[in-house]
Amino acid sequence: MSISSVQFLPRSPEQRVLPNVFFGTARIVAKERYREFCRLTFRSPEIAQRVKPGQFVNLYFEGLENELRFERSSLPMLTILPRPFSVLKTLTLRKGEIKSEAPKAFSVLFDIRGTGTSWLAQLTADVPVKVAGPLGKGFWLPEGTKTAVLVAGGIGIAPFPFLAETLKAQGIEVILLLGAQTKDKLPFDPVRAEFPIIKNGKPLSYWSIDEFESMGVRSAIALDKSEEGFFAGTVVQLFETWLSTQKEREGIVVYGCGPKPMLKALSEIALANKLHCQLSLEERMGCGIGICFGCPIPIKGNSYKLCCFDGPVFDASEVDWERYISRNS
Ligand SMILES: Cc1cc2nc3c(=O)[nH]c(=O)nc-3n(C[C@H](O)[C@H](O)[C@H](O)COP(=O)(O)OP(=O)(O)OC[C@H]3O[C@@H](n4cnc5c(N)ncnc54)[C@H](O)[C@@H]3O)c2cc1C
Ligand code: FES
Repeated sequence: MSISSVQFLPRSPEQRVLPNVFFGTARIVAKERYREFCRLTFRSPEIAQRVKPGQFVNLYFEGLENELRFERSSLPMLTILPRPFSVLKTLTLRKGEIKSEAPKAFSVLFDIRGTGTSWLAQLTADVPVKVAGPLGKGFWLPEGTKTAVLVAGGIGIAPFPFLAETLKAQGIEVILLLGAQTKDKLPFDPVRAEFPIIKNGKPLSYWSIDEFESMGVRSAIALDKSEEGFFAGTVVQLFETWLSTQKEREGIVVYGCGPKPMLKALSEIALANKLHCQLSLEERMGCGIGICFGCPIPIKGNSYKLCCFDGPVFDASEVDWERYISRNS
């Protein structure tokens, strides 16, 4: 990795500054489909060179009137708001080849859920898309961190390849734990673990994720529905099991992204074990830049912060889970 591409994480939440936002078009340069997931790579040096792990981009529908004529006539309101996506990775582009040294492009990974993601998933290379980014405030690296445990529920893995790469560049040991209901719901094709996480002489999971293994990141996969070779249970149970193998807990930092109940359970365990824990939260968004007040996250002490402006990454200890979960249930 060249020095110029190394992104350094801020040391505290206060050191995170809102970036200068690029608002313009970015062309799709690569598209990959895997089951119900889609990865799009956009050429945009402006965003790729400014973005930090945990930040997101907004993808808009404007400028694509022809493609959207049908959508607009049937579901007009659904195309008004942009769609927010975490930056999966930054990459360079050389004669059509994608390499990960100098950032000229960025990728997003999403599951195909509704109008916006279905539309995005049928776009092809060279299509220009209106985009704003980087947006929000991302992860930070507390002083004294030795090991970072990245805990992802399903598509919650999206911000973690970029985070893992950055942490590795800063000399931090990284462990990735991913959970899904079944193998079909995994956003990556699992590979045989080269460096499995061992407990009592046995791997917690024989299966791992190539994207992370190739970075030297040990990973393990949990499936709710027990399957040969995978950890049986939730990713939070996998985290607890991994934690039970750790004699030295000083310097462990937990990063989580996934569904709300998973993040609540994860933060309870992390905080009960006195571990620092950061969560990337998702909220329905309007503007994505702190203007519409449409994305409040309940914070302890009966206050709110904005997911798009103060987050999407929050310290787990500040979230008021009772108000947050009950409001969304
Ligand atoms: C900061 C942030 C980062 C995100 N990163 C990713 C990512 O990397 N990969 C990924 O697959 N998804 C991500 N999401 C969720 C993603 O934005 C929604 O899946 C997507 O907007 C759904 O759009 P749709 O038109 O297909 O769904 P529809 O249900 O048709 O959307 C209708 C409206 O609801 C909003 N909406 C629907 N589901 C969500 C949701 N879960 N979160 C927020 N808004 C939603 C849409 O933006 C849209 O305005 C992120 C959300 C946020 C807030
Ligand atoms: S989405 Fe408008 S303030 Fe957050």
